Amino acid sequence: MTEPSPAQRRISRRIAGISESATLAVDAKAKALKAAGKPVIGFGAGEPDFPTPDYIVEAAVEAARNPAMHRYTPAGGLPALKEAIVAKTARDSDLAATPANVLVTNGGKQAVYEALATMLDPGDEVLLPAPFWTTYPEAIRLAGGVPVPVVADEQSGYLVSVGQLEAARTPRTKVLLFCSPSNPTGAVYPAEQVEEIGRWAFEAGLWVLTDEIYEHLTYGGATAPSMPVLVPELVDRCVVVNGVAKTYAMTGWRVGWILGPTDVVKAATNLQSHATSNVANVSQAAAIAALTGDLSAVAAMREAFDRRRQTIVSMLREIPGIACPEPQGAFYVYPSVKGLLGRTIAGRVAETSTELAELILEEAEVAVVPGEAFGTPGYVRMSYALGDDDLVEGVGRLQRLLSTAD
Ligand SMILES: Cc1ncc(COP(=O)(O)O)c(C=O)c1O
Repeated sequence: MTEPSPAQRRISRRIAGISESATLAVDAKAKALKAAGKPVIGFGAGEPDFPTPDYIVEAAVEAARNPAMHRYTPAGGLPALKEAIVAKTARDSDLAATPANVLVTNGGKQAVYEALATMLDPGDEVLLPAPFWTTYPEAIRLAGGVPVPVVADEQSGYLVSVGQLEAARTPRTKVLLFCSPSNPTGAVYPAEQVEEIGRWAFEAGLWVLTDEIYEHLTYGGATAPSMPVLVPELVDRCVVVNGVAKTYAMTGWRVGWILGPTDVVKAATNLQSHATSNVANVSQAAAIAALTGDLSAVAAMREAFDRRRQTIVSMLREIPGIACPEPQGAFYVYPSVKGLLGRTIAGRVAETSTELAELILEEAEVAVVPGEAFGTPGYVRMSYALGDDDLVEGVGRLQRLLSTAD
């Protein structure tokens, strides 16, 4: 077959290579069933179910009335927001920075994308601990990089070791992508392991992209220290991603940031200046209010999430065939469903976690995301950022359906 000419290729190779998000596929199916009047309970969404706190919304309303906010502002972010991010980073992580280290982005997602686009050349390898957030490999590939998954299972609490990382390192490795607390597993690396990994990365001459978006959502005494604080030598080759979405229930406002070395931040700002310019000023004003306020709103949410975490873990553990480690962070559980595959459930057999998720959606009207979306088939991700009653009803349905597995 002859190679199509450029004009015959309707979609560029780069974009055609992006796979459909399994998270969105499940979500679309759940929404379609809901629209058809089915009482679907969704454990798929990765967002807090709380409204954004009032004082943050008020700041946005005020900003919307200010004509200065109706104009373009600096592409890299409002100076007051950059200052607030610097102060917040010192308060929460004990990491010193200046506004020149900060780029304000359209959510953490754009921060991840721009950081990778700025760091990677074609063929550069990125060590990607798996299970991984579904966006990471696509963002790596879009930037020309090559994701190299390093898989950790439930036996290790979904934590990769330095030995595993070293075994996956090659002369082409440039970046380690680190995320703690983790989406999708909720795993939180203990400080000693963060330090060990950071020190290894430094000594191996690697860069680290560390995603701290769930930093405030930890439970049972766990904490999520920032890698460049534990390994200060790494600061010059470390880019931190963060945002307001998860901490302040602000997923729809789209404010995140990159905090990193000035040359990297300057280059990423150039990219953003041609792509999207400044983040919406009203959203930036809301983020200033969030970051300069206290952390009482997140403390209240954390309490609710912790309660739901304990409920969902204990209810899932009652189901034979499910193995559910207790997560210490974020708002996800990531149980293994390997013990249910190949068995008969409601007269059907699911051979993969994708098929099991479909079966669960159709038979129990409960939406979960299959592990295939996160690089590890044989698991499902369930977000417990939904109301307590729905949570109990949804997991109760799973108990009734799955305990019939034969
Ligand atoms: C690990 C991780 N990083 C970054 C993000 C991006 O969040 P946002 O773009 O909403 O700020 C998410 C959202 O799901 C996430 O789970």
